[in-house]
Amino acid sequence: MKLLITGGAGFIGSNFIRYILKHHKNYKVINLDKLTYAGNLENLKDIEKDKRYKFVRGDILKAKGKWLKTRGVDAVINFAAESHVDRSIVDSSDFIQTNVVGTQILLEAAREARIKRYIQISTDEVYGSLGKSGYFTEKTPLAPNSPYSASKAAADMLVRAYFHTHNFPGIITRCSNNYGPYQFPEKFIPLMITNALEGKPLPVYGDGLNVRDWIFVDDHCSAIDAILHKGKNGEVYNIGGNSEKRNIDVVKLILKKLIGHTGHIGPIIKFVPDRKGHDRRYAIDSTKIKKELGWRPKYDFDKGLDMTIDWYLKNKEWWQKIKSGEYKRYYKKMYREG
Ligand code: NAD
Ligand code: TYD
Repeated sequence: MKLLITGGAGFIGSNFIRYILKHHKNYKVINLDKLTYAGNLENLKDIEKDKRYKFVRGDILKAKGKWLKTRGVDAVINFAAESHVDRSIVDSSDFIQTNVVGTQILLEAAREARIKRYIQISTDEVYGSLGKSGYFTEKTPLAPNSPYSASKAAADMLVRAYFHTHNFPGIITRCSNNYGPYQFPEKFIPLMITNALEGKPLPVYGDGLNVRDWIFVDDHCSAIDAILHKGKNGEVYNIGGNSEKRNIDVVKLILKKLIGHTGHIGPIIKFVPDRKGHDRRYAIDSTKIKKELGWRPKYDFDKGLDMTIDWYLKNKEWWQKIKSGEYKRYYKKMYREG
């Protein structure tokens, strides 16, 4: 099988490429990535010389059917996106371009090339926010609350429409919050780990009681692998780690696990003004993928977090480089604008 992975230089895409090359020895992968601030070829350094892997710098907004056809691509998995909610609150333009228009252009290219399988990597955030109880199922109505999740929901609707109208072989996955190696340190878990290691405050939004359902990135990858091979066209699959945690509890656990590494004296948790429109709780019901495709997550939160912290401890150069550049300017802007 020859796969086109878009956004493969980002966090989940790079983990997925590594996962596929490890588990499917005769597969080939083309990684098409624009290399935005979040794309980083260092994420794939260990496999860049693998003959089964090829990187192409490119924008999904310029995807062409002919290009896919001449390269003999069998399946497209679309990870390419603007992915950070806080950035979408500051300016949503790139989110609409890449996540919505980019998906439409990629769908059209995949349709023209008669691609046999197309997987849209979406998010549980399209369902909106939950109260104290309940779970998102695949039948939960879409109610996105941030410009990011609205752009992802719009893309989902396009994939749905292409299936319905053209019998296009599209599948949508909606996964909960990922964590693990190579996650860009603007996201919650790597931000807290790296700030703690740098002796910087850990900014917790609002009261810190918002809940996210965490999944180790490798478990997300194994779910996509199952969907690639056993999923049914036109279906939506929820993917979750069954690991609901309050933000403040995650921060406290990270600090506990980092004892001896931070050198901090006194409190370093800093409650900061809440994110605008901050979703209170996400929780995924992944019964469907478990029952129909036999998928199970392998890592519990404690084990996954240990592995993640270990990776950030061993790869300081990777995140220090990121934090000293573009990210720093963004952070300043974020705080100025609240
Ligand atoms: P990321 O921001 O780390 O990576 C996104 C990648 O897409 C980057 O390499 C970037 O260069 C590339 N990209 C951006 N615009 C592009 C364009 N126009 N053309 C080609 N490449 C482009 O994101 P991530 O956390 O790895 O998320 C990957 C996908 O998974 C996204 O679609 C996201 O919505 C979805 N998702 C993420 C999570 C999570 O917790 N991170 C959870 C569920 C779903
Ligand atoms: P994030 O990693 O941005 O993922 P998402 O908003 O897509 O779920 O944030 C996870 C949670 O952590 C969310 O409730 C917002 C919160 N958060 C903070 O409290 N402080 C921070 O600095 C960041 C980035 C997030």
